[in-house]
Amino acid sequence: MTLRTDAEREAFVREQTRLAPVPLVPELSVYTASAVTPLWFATAQWLEDHDSDVPFWSVPWAGGQALARYLLDHPEAVRGKRVIDFACGGGLVGIAAARAGAIVRAVDIDPLAAVATRLNAAANEVHLTTATVDLVGQALSPAEVDVLVAGDVWYEPEPSARFRDWFRVIAAAGVRVLSGDPGRLHVPRRVRELARYQVTTPLELESVTERTARVIELLP
Ligand SMILES: C[S@@+](CC[C@H](N)C(=O)[O-])C[C@H]1O[C@@H](n2cnc3c(N)ncnc32)[C@H](O)[C@@H]1O
Repeated sequence: MTLRTDAEREAFVREQTRLAPVPLVPELSVYTASAVTPLWFATAQWLEDHDSDVPFWSVPWAGGQALARYLLDHPEAVRGKRVIDFACGGGLVGIAAARAGAIVRAVDIDPLAAVATRLNAAANEVHLTTATVDLVGQALSPAEVDVLVAGDVWYEPEPSARFRDWFRVIAAAGVRVLSGDPGRLHVPRRVRELARYQVTTPLELESVTERTARVIELLP
């Protein structure tokens, strides 16, 4: 596997995507791939790693779009608060939170996500910090974070179970946990629904051109 520098990653993101308005959040634009499958092959080749992850960072996912819309329409949910955008992908949710007045740290396990998030933050003239880290299981309390936001993370069974269990622990400690979900299979049931939106989706990714996405609050 080829190890890449952040400068090389940034050049790769710029080459493979173009800045485009987000369908449900047109006041924000993010570097977006025209199709994810060819970019997945290109990423595997570029990294010389045939097990490389789907380039999740290259599109604003339906659940993330709903959560970003909600934060821009309800800025009081995050204004002046310390927010973690967990599993940030291209960082749309964190960027919306920063636009709404939050102090944002965006985290993901994919180093390309951190680079894409920084490029997207700059394109939308907001400030946030990024980290490539798996925070799941780490003790988090209102001493260090007020709100954790997680866009579109409920699509695989094992990670979803880890996220759910951890979110419940940090919610019990007093951190507000908000998620955006377009009906993925492993979304937790014990939640409070805050909003729902119709989101236009790429047929290639979702097999449909529109999904209903909910914004939910995880209950302890
Ligand atoms: C479908 S994407 C959603 C991206 C973004 N939140 C959005 O809504 O557009 C899911 C993201 O979860 C990230 N991810 C998976 N496991 C993770 C973990 N343990 N910690 C942080 N990020 C993780 C992936 O790398 C990917 O970027």
